[in-house]
Amino acid sequence: MTDQNIILIGPMGSGKSTIGQLLANRLNRDFFDSDHYIEQKTGVDIPTIFDIEGEEGFRTRETKALEELSSQKKLVIATGGGSVIRKENQQLLKSTGFIIFLDTSVNQQMARLKHDKKRPLLQTDNPREKLEKLFAERKPIYIELADLRIRTDRKFARKVASEIIPLLPGNLT
Ligand code: S3P
Repeated sequence: MTDQNIILIGPMGSGKSTIGQLLANRLNRDFFDSDHYIEQKTGVDIPTIFDIEGEEGFRTRETKALEELSSQKKLVIATGGGSVIRKENQQLLKSTGFIIFLDTSVNQQMARLKHDKKRPLLQTDNPREKLEKLFAERKPIYIELADLRIRTDRKFARKVASEIIPLLPGNLT
């Protein structure tokens, strides 16, 4: 088995954490969620970081978290939806991991996130419009970075994980 990390990218509500944990169990790897990692390191939740330091402050912490996680081996890493924005993160993820893009419609994201209070970017009058805008901006980056692209709409996480496993290069399983 190669030491390369398996990295999940995609928008909020695409199932990165749930599917990542399932993949890690199935592949006997450790799992990390970069948002949880940041929360553990700082001792506060993501909305508090946005409140105090703004989005830029959060992004800097996110880059540091990705650097620390990428320096480890054989992990499954679920990233935050906006982690692909910074060029330095793109290069880091590309050079240390096999990248899987969980491609999800805005309808599906809305169904999963409509009552969410933990995502600062969605605490607006029109979260659907925000999700559409973010996805339009980020989708080309997700596609460009991805080694594998999987649609997750209307599928249980277990089914998505089962679809991914046989598509992984043999040296990762
Ligand atoms: C964000 C996604 C969130 C979290 C933060 C910002 C984004 O992670 O990092 O709220 O910019 O899309 P999830 O994709 O895990 O929800």
